[in-house]
Amino acid sequence: MTGPVLIFDSGVGGLSVANALRSHYPKVSMCYACDNAWLPYGLRDDDALAARIVAVCQAAVDACQASLLVVACNTASTLALDGLRQTLMIPVVGTVPAIKPAAFTSKTRHIGLLATTATVNRPYTQGLIDSFASDCLVTKVAADALVTEAEAWLAGTPLNATRIYQALQPLWQATQAIPALDTVVLGCTHFPLLKPMLTTLAPTPLAWVDSGDAIARRVGQIAKQLAFDASDGRCFTTAPANALIDGFARYGFRKPQQLLLPAVS
Ligand code: DGL
Repeated sequence: MTGPVLIFDSGVGGLSVANALRSHYPKVSMCYACDNAWLPYGLRDDDALAARIVAVCQAAVDACQASLLVVACNTASTLALDGLRQTLMIPVVGTVPAIKPAAFTSKTRHIGLLATTATVNRPYTQGLIDSFASDCLVTKVAADALVTEAEAWLAGTPLNATRIYQALQPLWQATQAIPALDTVVLGCTHFPLLKPMLTTLAPTPLAWVDSGDAIARRVGQIAKQLAFDASDGRCFTTAPANALIDGFARYGFRKPQQLLLPAVS
């Protein structure tokens, strides 16, 4: 591969995936693109969103001449992976809720799925539950408020612990159920950014499972040879993102450039 790996998300959630990839391949060439003009994806209409994701990813792949695309967004992957693979000329690695490893981990056979409204309700997600966790009780919690919290946190606003605690009430209640919930799937890439706070708020110790490591391993399998140039770090956004410059820099990405999208007829 000669070009960078492009990490794509609606917002800053893909930074959790970039972190995982960098921990496996410290000097891998990476670029970042996010569709912050359409954030949050989790509350959007499916048809319009599917077309939008393909258009933005195509523009971002062209802008940075990427050799591989990581769709670091569960909400986008559970909707648009087929469309992306049909349209783009490069390999595409998706991010889907880590139901399988969570079912493997859970001792009580009660797991939680924390994701956006869209991901929680997608047939794709139910398919994962039916295939890999059919013997588990699954408590699904739509937690779009946590996307907003993670975005604000990266822009420098302290996390609001009360708001996060309240958004996760159904999860905390499930820890008191019989059988008690013992494992939680972080089915939105924004949520691993909040893991220290989630761990602090949880009323009982829980296993938190995300997809970052599995994605990094998959990238390693698919890319015959990754390009290594840790100084790349170009970053593209679809709306101005000055408040995020410092946050992106902490994750090794440069000042965001505006991504030019083709005019829609
Ligand atoms: N980070 C995205 C995900 O993994 C979703 C955030 C959003 O709702 O835009 O699903």
